[in-house]
Amino acid sequence: MRTNGLVIAIDGPAGTGKSTVGKAVAAQLGYGFLSTGEMYRALAYTIFAKRIDPEDHDAVLTATRKLRFTFERQADASLKMFVDGEYLGAKLHLEEVGNVASRVSTNRESRQVLTEKMREVGAMGGIVMEGRDVGTVVFPDAEVKFYLDASAQERAKRRFKQLQEAGENPNYDEILRLIQERDHRDKTRAASPLKPAEDAFVIDTSDLTLQQAISAVLEKIPHHAS
Ligand code: DC
Repeated sequence: MRTNGLVIAIDGPAGTGKSTVGKAVAAQLGYGFLSTGEMYRALAYTIFAKRIDPEDHDAVLTATRKLRFTFERQADASLKMFVDGEYLGAKLHLEEVGNVASRVSTNRESRQVLTEKMREVGAMGGIVMEGRDVGTVVFPDAEVKFYLDASAQERAKRRFKQLQEAGENPNYDEILRLIQERDHRDKTRAASPLKPAEDAFVIDTSDLTLQQAISAVLEKIPHHAS
């Protein structure tokens, strides 16, 4: 047992509800919540802001090593991330930053550096960590592992609805195509491809409400009566 509790890993493709479910589960348990994708996005933002070529392996690695992350626990359980003392907020979710994140996340050595930083954050336990390889690579010894999945069509529908609600005029077929492309890239990359850990509970959220998905996760956590 770690000092502050369990390490709970939640992996899976984008759009399966990992963040929303993970945050709710962390709040229920009194744990912290970390989205590891934010760290890849922070690296991408730095690369983008400093005009480093994402394909320049050495420059990307040097930039990765220089990143200093600090975290502040928020009321909703999430860990607010500061990069070199700065809160980057919505900048991390710009379309260009997401694209660069997906490219730099294929850099094996940069992954190792970020993985070490994630291990430092989670070492004491008491944390729900969400990403693509938390249960397989970052914390293969996590006490409980989940892999949330959903059909590409369902995820495209969710994204479509989100964008519509944000006042945009989305194209369903285009969204579906981008999701399928990104799934393919994430699952076939050589470094830490997206796949369920052998001991992960696989939960398909396609036909679940958010509340049902949260309950399905809580149910599997030892000593937690949901
Ligand atoms: O979950 P997200 O969309 O914020 O992740 C951003 C990018 O980072 C995504 O393209 C995949 C990558 N990523 C990764 O390779 N490994 C992780 N543990 C988390 C994210």
